[in-house]
Amino acid sequence: MITFEEHVVRQHPELGAEFGWVLSGLTLASKKIEAQIRSAGLSGVYGAQGSENVQGEAQQKLDVVANDAMMESLGSRAGVAALVSEEDEAPVAFDADGGKYIVIFDPLDGSSNIDVNVNVGTIFSVHRRLADGSLDASILQEGTKQVMGGYVVYGPSTVLVYTAGDGVYGFTLDAASGAFVLTNEAMVMPEQGPYYSVNEANAVTWPEGFQAYVEMLRTGGLGIAYSSRYIGSLVADFHRTLLKGGVFLYPPTKKQPGGKLRLLYEANPLAFIAEQAGGMATTGTDRILEIQPGKIHQRTPFCVGSKREMEALQAAVGGKA
Ligand code: AHG
Ligand code: MN
Ligand code: MN
Ligand code: MN
Repeated sequence: MITFEEHVVRQHPELGAEFGWVLSGLTLASKKIEAQIRSAGLSGVYGAQGSENVQGEAQQKLDVVANDAMMESLGSRAGVAALVSEEDEAPVAFDADGGKYIVIFDPLDGSSNIDVNVNVGTIFSVHRRLADGSLDASILQEGTKQVMGGYVVYGPSTVLVYTAGDGVYGFTLDAASGAFVLTNEAMVMPEQGPYYSVNEANAVTWPEGFQAYVEMLRTGGLGIAYSSRYIGSLVADFHRTLLKGGVFLYPPTKKQPGGKLRLLYEANPLAFIAEQAGGMATTGTDRILEIQPGKIHQRTPFCVGSKREMEALQAAVGGKA
């Protein structure tokens, strides 16, 4: 039985002992969040908090509970210089002198699914603090510089998936020991299909190339018949794409011409995992991991999946990625 913390420290001794504290902070927070989700109806964390976050979204109670769990469990850890959350406008600095790592996260992904008991998740991205120590520049590094990308999907079982640049590994929360135990060695995304995943309600407002692309998938243009699956929790739609193959798309829409999903704590960590598993992640044209962030909450069109579907997407939307 190998736990998540053991696996990372063994595979990456270069990250140093204090990185272990970051990992145990992440797993502690995810276990707190998981406990709240499992008993949501009893612990009263359903429904809206009555506040709005910096995204202009009505915060759900569980968004706030999950954010508090991440802040408490990581903020007190040696090694953490700053935390950046979807739910907070600005970064929260901690060990501003000694901290070597920045943790950027979406504490609760899929908020619209909480009250209907559908899979939700937590997404995290870790950057090294730059030698010159500046927090802003350390936070706004491009995705290729990530130390780690990972997520927890709270579903029938609670599964943690991560990459630190040498493959993708999956762990299942073992209720008996309370540990995330290695259950997926070296995860590889299938070369193609059988699912495409997109919110088709926005189809008429996508750019032409995306409309033609999805029509091509529907009409056998890639040589296989597809099924459409859209859960509405990015982590769950991504996890299925990682395991079964196919493509997830959140194209530009009229309402969100720059895309809806956030670069730093949704697209980058999942793009890192996708590439490490043999897949691809682009805006439709440009590689996600090479986007130079300008603002911590900036959005991006996000397309991720198997090579076959992603190469066809580039051709359809004229990409150079
Ligand atoms: P979050 O709950 O962290 O704000 O993220 C919600 C995101 C993502 O989980 C999902 O893929 C997307 O919103 C769904 O958006 P639509 O409802 O517009 O399809
Ligand atoms: Mn949100
Ligand atoms: Mn999210
Ligand atoms: Mn969220």
